Amino acid sequence: MASAEVSFPPGPRLPALVQTMAFIVAPARFMRWCRERYGDIVTLGTAFDQRFVMVFTPELVKEVFRASPERLRAGEANALLGPALGQRSVLLLDGAEHLRQRKLLLPPFHGQRMLEYASVMLEATDRVVDTWPVGEEFPLMPAMQELTLEVIMRAVFGVEAGERQVELKRRVRAMIQPLSRRLGILVLAFSGGRMGDRGAMARFVKNREQLDELIYAEIARRRSASDLAERTDILSMLLQARDEAGEPMTDGELRDELVTLLVAGHETTATGLAWAFDLVLRDPRVLAAVRAGATDEYVDAVVKEALRIRPVIPGVGRVVRGGPFEIGGYRVPDGVEINPSIATIHTRGDVYADASRFLPERFLGPDAPDTYTWIPFGGGTRRCLGASFATFEMRVVLRRVLERAALRPASRRPDRPERRGITIVPKRGVRVVLERPPAAA
Ligand code: HEM
Repeated sequence: MASAEVSFPPGPRLPALVQTMAFIVAPARFMRWCRERYGDIVTLGTAFDQRFVMVFTPELVKEVFRASPERLRAGEANALLGPALGQRSVLLLDGAEHLRQRKLLLPPFHGQRMLEYASVMLEATDRVVDTWPVGEEFPLMPAMQELTLEVIMRAVFGVEAGERQVELKRRVRAMIQPLSRRLGILVLAFSGGRMGDRGAMARFVKNREQLDELIYAEIARRRSASDLAERTDILSMLLQARDEAGEPMTDGELRDELVTLLVAGHETTATGLAWAFDLVLRDPRVLAAVRAGATDEYVDAVVKEALRIRPVIPGVGRVVRGGPFEIGGYRVPDGVEINPSIATIHTRGDVYADASRFLPERFLGPDAPDTYTWIPFGGGTRRCLGASFATFEMRVVLRRVLERAALRPASRRPDRPERRGITIVPKRGVRVVLERPPAAA
């Protein structure tokens, strides 16, 4: 029957192991080679996924992001995150269940509400800046991780007594440790029980239990708080949220969404910030503009350009369901994953003029890249829920740090991208030197 016919785009015939290594060792170069050799839509195969399809143009990305969420499923594609985030995480769900959770989670991320987080972001920034050594080399990445974890904890749980939050932070970092290792994603894959480093798995499960214990305790405490109705932190809002049938979220759902926000919300933003500093500190023109009190619009363009040239997450996935999916002249079969390659699209010379140059100006004015061309936060009904939160935080932190701290890069060469888990991080953690004590806050 014609409707059952399927066809795969062309792609390398290299053994899966070789393709896996290419993805781990030199993903950007491998993708460029694939695109130049096979075109804008390519079939690949690795040790983790026998056959999947990558797309490399804004036009094809548009087709993916605009397809029905029933046909192209992101939740299924994110299954690897299940052991950490839980099966009821908005990242893991599809269809009506996904929509329900997403609607419940949206209000705390409403644009206006972001502004309320500004003071928390400034305080957290000042706290880390004040610990930096003068005249000594240090990496910015851990400082940014600490800062963004503090911010997301405060946004999620509100201003709370110190010790419990310190312990919660420690347990969040402990659980996600395997995710941020170089081959961390493998550890997660192992958790499916297919292959295994039993020791690492056991440690992961224990760390998760310890985190869950505290999260459930926080949920219980908050449920019985007398000022619940007046509180504006995310947990309090989620406790009061009702779906269309008037039902509240269960404790299990709350746990999964809280962990999702803590995990998705801090490592990504910290990485984005570290990259932004690596780029700005090496660009006297942009650095001077931000230090001289550039407009919000300009700092926003700096953040966008940093996320373009150094995307934190190199690609997103969607699994085909409900029969073959037509794209780019092919009929991709049921069960196969389609991946828009964020990193490749962001660096195409025919999509971005002077693609290798850091030029925030490209985001100012009428020709700014559209929502299928600039895609660091994915797109469609699955676009990152924290995109406004993250870009707002990046603007606030970038501005504050550059106003207060006379930082310079510790070496002449820019940091190198390295894949860690699902993110692309600066290999050396963006090493810098603070030239003199920071200006007063
Ligand atoms: C620079 C920082 C960040 C980057 C680069 C980033 C990137 C992404 C990407 C690529 C996706 C997948 C989108 C898709 O499949 O189309 C995503 C989803 C998501 N992100 Fe982010 N993110 C960042 C910060 C945040 C923050 C701060 C939060 C929360 C506070 C957050 C929460 C989420 C959630 C809940 C989803 C799942 C949305 C859904 O499936 O409906 N992210 N993010």
